Amino acid sequence: MKIMCLNGPNLNRLGKREPEIYGSETLEDVKQSLIAVGKELGAEVDFRQSNHEGELVDWIHEAEDERYDAIIINPAAYTHTSVALRDALAGITVPAIEVHISNIHKRETFRHHSYLAPVCVGQICGLGTKGYELALRSFVQA
Ligand code: DQA
Repeated sequence: MKIMCLNGPNLNRLGKREPEIYGSETLEDVKQSLIAVGKELGAEVDFRQSNHEGELVDWIHEAEDERYDAIIINPAAYTHTSVALRDALAGITVPAIEVHISNIHKRETFRHHSYLAPVCVGQICGLGTKGYELALRSFVQA
């Protein structure tokens, strides 16, 4: 099983950015532990991050064209703004789970709405970086 894990803007600064909200783990830590869990479960994890909306759109297309089995996506701030990412996910057959480290529903009202959630299998939020692993396990054990 081949899984693409996509991360949106500012997540490259995980560990340094607002640690009281997002914790002290870095994105590299998240990447390494997700790859390790993937290995245990027999899944190959292709982990990526971009601060650019169009690059994330291109990667979603690539997941379809290169026949990935699933997408785990933390769209970060694009969750709340991006019709382009929603359309990209709506236009492919690869299933996606949306992940947020923080509980977006407990925060500012502008974070309560996700453009992507309606085109995803589900959303995991508020469980910290553990959410990535839960999404992975859910796809592998489906
Ligand atoms: C986030 C939540 C978003 O609202 C925010 O813009 C992020 C990170 C999270 O993982 O909790 O950058 O997606």
